[in-house]
Amino acid sequence: MKSTDKPRTYRVKSFGCQMNVYDGERMGELLEAKGIAPAREDEDADLVVLNTCHIREKATEKVYSDVGRIEKAGRLAGKTPMIAVAGCVAQAEGEEIMKRAPGVGMVVGPQAYHRLGDMVDRAALGERSTDTDMPENAKFAELPSRGTRSPTAFLTVQEGCDKFCTYCVVPYTRGAEISRPFTELVDEAKRLVDQGAREITLLGQNVNAWSGEDAIGHAQGLDGLIRAIAKLPSLERIRYTTSHPNDFTDGLVRCHGEEEKLMPFLHLPVQSGSDRVLKAMNRSHTAESYLHLLDRVRAARPDIALSGDFIVGFPGETDADFEETLKLVDTVGYAQAFSFKYSPRPGTPAAAMDSQIPREVMDERLQRLQAALNRDQLAFNEASIGRACDVLVERKGKLSGQWLGKSPWLQSVHFTAEAAIGDMVRVELVEAGANSLGARASEPVSAQSTSSR
Ligand code: 5AD
Ligand code: SF4
Repeated sequence: MKSTDKPRTYRVKSFGCQMNVYDGERMGELLEAKGIAPAREDEDADLVVLNTCHIREKATEKVYSDVGRIEKAGRLAGKTPMIAVAGCVAQAEGEEIMKRAPGVGMVVGPQAYHRLGDMVDRAALGERSTDTDMPENAKFAELPSRGTRSPTAFLTVQEGCDKFCTYCVVPYTRGAEISRPFTELVDEAKRLVDQGAREITLLGQNVNAWSGEDAIGHAQGLDGLIRAIAKLPSLERIRYTTSHPNDFTDGLVRCHGEEEKLMPFLHLPVQSGSDRVLKAMNRSHTAESYLHLLDRVRAARPDIALSGDFIVGFPGETDADFEETLKLVDTVGYAQAFSFKYSPRPGTPAAAMDSQIPREVMDERLQRLQAALNRDQLAFNEASIGRACDVLVERKGKLSGQWLGKSPWLQSVHFTAEAAIGDMVRVELVEAGANSLGARASEPVSAQSTSSR
């Protein structure tokens, strides 16, 4: 096929955060509503959407090399696939991508992808187009209704960020904080549950900044939204990510203690344990206020598993600052965490700061931090041995009869028993590694009524 034929098959390749995964799924649904089917293999796709991430490392260069790779695979297969660049690199680079990559037919930002279908039609007429508009909330109303094929589903409730941490591109690529309306979200959650979702993860760059009005006009925060969605009878589990310490309300703390369907897991990025660095990052919390918040959440839900994000080597970070981070890690005892080397993002204040940290220093600090985090993750998993819990089965394991799923504390658990995807199986955790746990099944506590999944 030529790049200007109407595509029959597509592939969306999503990189980066869970919000990109959600956007990728919705782009897929939109293309399927236009009669374009998912391709079985990468090489079979007539249309490839690169749903990019701009948060760290050489994001832009990666897009150009990915485009080159797709073009080359197309040549070998005797075709010229249509290529769309979506996501945060599309937003940040816009027309520049069109100039540098003649093989790209569409550049579409994260707030404009509801118009991807029209862009594909125009591309089929040989017209290249860029759309990086940021109309508030417009895309959700125009997307086809949700589908899910999995017992776990994502639901984007909030987008964008007003925090302007000095290292971060998100406020520029995703725009200002917006909350999707309450009733629209409860409806979307209901549709997901009707189609078989038993766990919903509410997503937002600053998910706990979500606010809205319920059906009778009462102001609600994220806790109110969680409580409303928890009323859906067949929904068993609710999670949310990612939160900012400053938007954590007392209501949300209470919700962790009171709402059974809200899982005992909290991802709350801290970035650094040094108040000096936190100030330079414009985080507007201190190490102490963060720890105090965790104490309150733990008081409400003593078994809560904690997770965080860390950046090492922020400009000006001294050995003493880094030691403060290690101290905070020791104090918290994270169940899991993400840690990154600082990466200067074009256009952000930190990229222009003096005293950028040499790569070797960052490497060494990251190694030490990750050793501490891995140690704590293993300790958390080992401390779970002997616990009884439910596991929501997500997929088959490698061994015959083996199933994989998640514990309430977001640990990966494997076990061998009669089960099916979507079952909630009662298990006892019997062995622990750093990244997963082995379990012994008791009995399926609430098997799905349909046996086809
Ligand atoms: N360099 C390194 N890590 C970053 N993050 C965000 N921006 C940068 C950057 N410029 C990390 C933060 C954030 C996570 C999603 O990515 O830890 O919480
Ligand atoms: Fe980026 Fe900070 Fe906003 Fe998180 S809170 S998205 S790190 S600016």
